[in-house]
Amino acid sequence: MNKKYELIYEGKAKKIFSHDDPDKVIIEFKDDATAFNALKKAKFKGKGKLNCLISARIFELLIKENIPTHFIEIKNENKMIAHKIKVIPLEIVLRNIAYGSLCKQTTINSGTTLAKPLIDIYLKNDELNDPLLTKDRIELMNIISSKDLNFITDLTLKINNILKIFFKNIQLQLVDFKLEFGYDIKNNILLGDEISPDNCRFWDLNQKNDTIVSLDKDRFRNDLGGLIEAYSEINRRINDFI
Ligand code: TMP
Repeated sequence: MNKKYELIYEGKAKKIFSHDDPDKVIIEFKDDATAFNALKKAKFKGKGKLNCLISARIFELLIKENIPTHFIEIKNENKMIAHKIKVIPLEIVLRNIAYGSLCKQTTINSGTTLAKPLIDIYLKNDELNDPLLTKDRIELMNIISSKDLNFITDLTLKINNILKIFFKNIQLQLVDFKLEFGYDIKNNILLGDEISPDNCRFWDLNQKNDTIVSLDKDRFRNDLGGLIEAYSEINRRINDFI
């Protein structure tokens, strides 16, 4: 990256650089993958580029549906330009099907289709291992007003409706996903971060029987192999459809 762009922040899967325009940032998607709060780490050549391309297509789709997002444009292979936001330290998880931590922490059976989407909110704090929050705890910590929290949860439900239909059209079941939001310079709430197989669970609907075939980061979390093949397949299906 050109020297004039200053590294503002480095996360587990992305780097954020300054832009000539102080209201914008450059987001670089890394090839690194982590799981279980970085207890497990690996590099997958080409993952950054795939997640950048997939996220860009999904953000474009959401913008068309009037969802406010930070995405502006792709810069090159694994970099996008986005509006600068002050990230709200909450991870908003929406679940359509019970899987992952929900089944480890409750008596709900893995694979159960939920009667209505479940929203779980976690504190974005690696030191505390991203704990599950309650509305009262969010209020107590003064993270966000209840009006803004309602806005974010409503937006998450709308995003789910758009994405569920979109992914069904390309033979993918949207099991669950995690979103992050932030405030832009005008204090508008924008969808931030990424929407990719790193933070969504996708199950292949092109299976003859009921076998679960994950086309997402569970391939790494659960040592299934074939991560790049799975991400490439998601990217291929999105591009063939759009
Ligand atoms: P979970 O079942 O482990 O709680 O994950 C739910 C969804 O959230 C799943 O699509 C993966 C995504 N996720 C992240 O993007 N980042 C995280 O740190 C975690 C724990 C989950």
